[in-house]
Amino acid sequence: MERTLVILKPGALQRGLVGEVISRFEKRGLKLVAMKMKQLDQSVLDEHYAHLKDKPFFPWLCSGMMAAPVILCCWEGFEAVKVVRAMAGSTNARNAAPGTIRGDYALSAQENIVHTSDSVENARIELDRFFSPEDYCSYPSPLEQYLYAPDEK
Ligand code: TYD
Repeated sequence: MERTLVILKPGALQRGLVGEVISRFEKRGLKLVAMKMKQLDQSVLDEHYAHLKDKPFFPWLCSGMMAAPVILCCWEGFEAVKVVRAMAGSTNARNAAPGTIRGDYALSAQENIVHTSDSVENARIELDRFFSPEDYCSYPSPLEQYLYAPDEK
């Protein structure tokens, strides 16, 4: 099964949306296999947002991401990377479709509630950035038979 990283950004905590957002992934059928709360610092953001370091909004993005702790989650499921990414919606929340997390809870390109990995390869890199092997929990998922066909693993 594929794994992907979701970061509930400081705005999710500050606005009291942590439960709402986590509940969406749970209800979809994704499995939560690791979770922690953490205050991010500049050095990890330099790494995580390296592809944006030359953008004019980079300093604001970083200060927004350090304004409060974040919740880091690893969700597991069949094709979880693309499923979770679609649930987040467009980066600029003003363009995000209603029914997506950003489309339902945000109005900003920066203050957009969640980060989600954008590819299987980046999910692996990002999960390694924030989690150690011992952070992952394995537990039975008896409902899996109702979530997937036998070839969807
Ligand atoms: P990006 O990796 O392009 O998008 P996503 O989060 O959807 O994978 O951008 C990372 C974050 O940078 C984005 O969530 C919010 C911020 N950002 C802005 O503040 N303004 C912008 O115009 C863009 C493209 C991103």
